Amino acid sequence: MPLQFADRLNNVETSAIRELFKLLGKPGIISFAGGFPDPAMFDVQGIQEASNKALSEEPGAALQYGATEGYQPLREQLAAFMATKGATVAASELIVTTGSQQALDLLGKTMISPGDKVIVEGPTFLATIQCFRLYGAELISAPIDANGVKTDELEQLIAEHKPKLVYLIPTFGNPSGAMLSLERRKKVLELAVKYETLIVEDDPYGDLFFDAPPPPSLLALSDSVPGSRDWLAHCGSLSKVLSPGLRVGWLIAPPALLANATMCKQFSDAHTSTFAQATAAQYLKAGRMPATLAHVRQVYAERARAMGEALGRELGEAVAFVQPGGGLFFWVRLTGAGGAISDAGELAKRAIEKGVAFVPGAPFYALNPDSSTLRLSFATADVAKIEEGIARLGQALCR
Ligand SMILES: Cc1ncc(COP(=O)(O)O)c(C=O)c1O
Repeated sequence: MPLQFADRLNNVETSAIRELFKLLGKPGIISFAGGFPDPAMFDVQGIQEASNKALSEEPGAALQYGATEGYQPLREQLAAFMATKGATVAASELIVTTGSQQALDLLGKTMISPGDKVIVEGPTFLATIQCFRLYGAELISAPIDANGVKTDELEQLIAEHKPKLVYLIPTFGNPSGAMLSLERRKKVLELAVKYETLIVEDDPYGDLFFDAPPPPSLLALSDSVPGSRDWLAHCGSLSKVLSPGLRVGWLIAPPALLANATMCKQFSDAHTSTFAQATAAQYLKAGRMPATLAHVRQVYAERARAMGEALGRELGEAVAFVQPGGGLFFWVRLTGAGGAISDAGELAKRAIEKGVAFVPGAPFYALNPDSSTLRLSFATADVAKIEEGIARLGQALCR
């Protein structure tokens, strides 16, 4: 008799993307497939100094068990960090989580009962799809364009389905790269109040803007839409700007939700690594973040520009895309123009043979996958590799 696993596992499967990653071992391959930041951008010296300080100044706190809500000096630093972005948050209104991924898991755990409806963007972050499905959510997909989720359609879906929550990545979404316009941000907050629906704002990429800052986060804007803060949860992360290995994220939510999430976290990992938290707190306290952000923004902006130019030059009419204003990703649609391949899965196989990898877009849809879409990350390849990789993609595209 084989092991009998929990029924909830029937709702999920290993990501198709993980399967693709197995093919990436091929020598010489240029990969646009990952969602990782560039390790060359890690401020190793700054993190080393911060961890040394954490150990020398507060070894008891850095190496001991800690409070589930998070290490208080870090909560204060994160509240101050949010204030630099226009969001007024008290340290007591946020908990530190083990990556923002855990914040999403805690939201699933606290909010979703089997059969509950949850609205996500089509496309959206794959791990959220899997995580919410694990809790039995019935996912509903809201369409997006270059300005993020289409709020008229979103309103119809909310009115029709009365979802438990709406999950959005308003700023430089993964995988879409889309940025929700200011007007739509306000509309989303109004919808939250009108329909008394929880909105989850996942914001790991908002700091990675290129030429101009994005509009304020939903959290920052919530002050201007009365009542909306009661219906808003916000997930933040140091992963994309500092280091994903630190596993430092945070959750800001209305008090009752935060209390339940904290209770669930207690049963899960007790608390996020105190050593990582003390290191992150020292890093922020040392005031290194603005220079780090300026550096990563400049490098990623250069790479995004190079990728956009190369796509136009090498693939021309065969692709449609919007140049992202920040984040890590291009979201590309294969148009099939001139008889070129229009199925991203087929192209992915041919591309690997030509020495370049990317992720097909279909798995990022909770419903109605669009097989002509794909995601390209410009984060980890330098400009020369981006140009070479997109040239290879151009070769793979021609039948
Ligand atoms: C949209 C989105 N949310 C959350 C995460 C999770 O990040 P972390 O758990 O490292 O904070 C990611 C990582 O790729 C992401 O793209």
